[in-house]
Amino acid sequence: MSFQNIAEIIKPNQDEMHRQRFVSILRKKVLMDFASDMKTVYENKVEPKFEKEYGRKPSDGKEIRKLMLDEPIFKAWSSLRYNAQMMTWWSVQSSIERNLNKLVEAATQVLNNKPTGGSLELNAKTQIPKEITELDIHLMPGCFHNEYLPNDVAQGALYHYGTTVFSGGLPHRKDSKGGVARSIANYLDIKYPKWKPKRILDLGCTAGANTKPYAEVFKNADVHGIDVGAPLLRFGHAHAETENIKIHYHQRNALNSGFPDEHFDLITSSFFFHEVSVKDTEKIILECYRMLKPNGLMLHMELPPSDFTDAYYNFYLDWDAYYNNEPHYLKFRELDFNKLLTKSGFKKDKIEMIRIPNYDTTPESEFCSVARGEESFRRDHGNGAVWFTFGGWK
Ligand SMILES: C[S@@+](CC[C@H](N)C(=O)[O-])C[C@H]1O[C@@H](n2cnc3c(N)ncnc32)[C@H](O)[C@@H]1O
Repeated sequence: MSFQNIAEIIKPNQDEMHRQRFVSILRKKVLMDFASDMKTVYENKVEPKFEKEYGRKPSDGKEIRKLMLDEPIFKAWSSLRYNAQMMTWWSVQSSIERNLNKLVEAATQVLNNKPTGGSLELNAKTQIPKEITELDIHLMPGCFHNEYLPNDVAQGALYHYGTTVFSGGLPHRKDSKGGVARSIANYLDIKYPKWKPKRILDLGCTAGANTKPYAEVFKNADVHGIDVGAPLLRFGHAHAETENIKIHYHQRNALNSGFPDEHFDLITSSFFFHEVSVKDTEKIILECYRMLKPNGLMLHMELPPSDFTDAYYNFYLDWDAYYNNEPHYLKFRELDFNKLLTKSGFKKDKIEMIRIPNYDTTPESEFCSVARGEESFRRDHGNGAVWFTFGGWK
């Protein structure tokens, strides 16, 4: 029996297709050309003026932000970026609404048959964090968890199709999703050829784009993804199953995920912790330590901490904290990762903070030699050339 791939159900009509293409190109213009013009204004005008007045350069991203707030180019850039973000979701919403019954039907049919033997465990009592219930994170209407009809998948579809538009024009995400996990999994596989994790957990997996590559690279592993949003997981489960990738999805809160002690060889996440409060981050890292097997690895991909990047780039990255409904973003980037990890039990000499090249955009020979430690990777975080990861071995 064959099943329709849930990620291929929606065919935008001509108007929607053009709208989506427009938004992808707008985002590319805003994030690349317009952002580069803004940096030129900062370097040629704002910074020299400040230096003349105070005899020093601005010390951090927050100081630069204060200076830039009144600059016409910042106002225009920020407003365009905000609108492009909103338009990203709007550009796919109408086609999702029109096809919602078909999407739900496809997901339910896969769920009833489970062609690859993956699973979906939902628990309506799962505690949804307050920031998710009170804010539309990333300005995504309905956020990660809202449900509008029985067995709803709308928010999973919105995230899946919306992020395609979101990254559509950008050089590092032209073809497929899952680039972060593909980079981490391949890096680990090359760096530690004898290490074959048998059980893997991905926290805050959303619709599973960055969960699936672990199952593809570590073919004998049992791969689990947890998230609090049921519609995301229904969509992710249906998608993985029709792509013949076996994943076990669970609706669980990472604060108290209920897995046994020393259960996983590898615990990972991508773009997860910057959306979690510092208090909860500390608890979740402790929980990871508890769930890791001895000699297991925890490695999370995140935005680089503010002391890894220069003042201007911090100002640039931190835009999301102020305008994209990401309330924990600034505090997360200011965390002392060594302190966070040692407090949770990781020994100092077992801590890992690795800049992993993007597998999809780095020539294979370069990727392999960086992973084997034969050369270091010099390109910056910007445009997804490299992913910052933190964690440690137990
Ligand atoms: C930005 S998304 C992660 C993106 C995803 N990992 C990817 O790479 O496509 C953050 C996710 O974390 C989930 N989340 C937030 N707090 C959580 C918690 N305490 N436990 C489990 N999931 C959580 C949200 O529902 C959301 O799906």
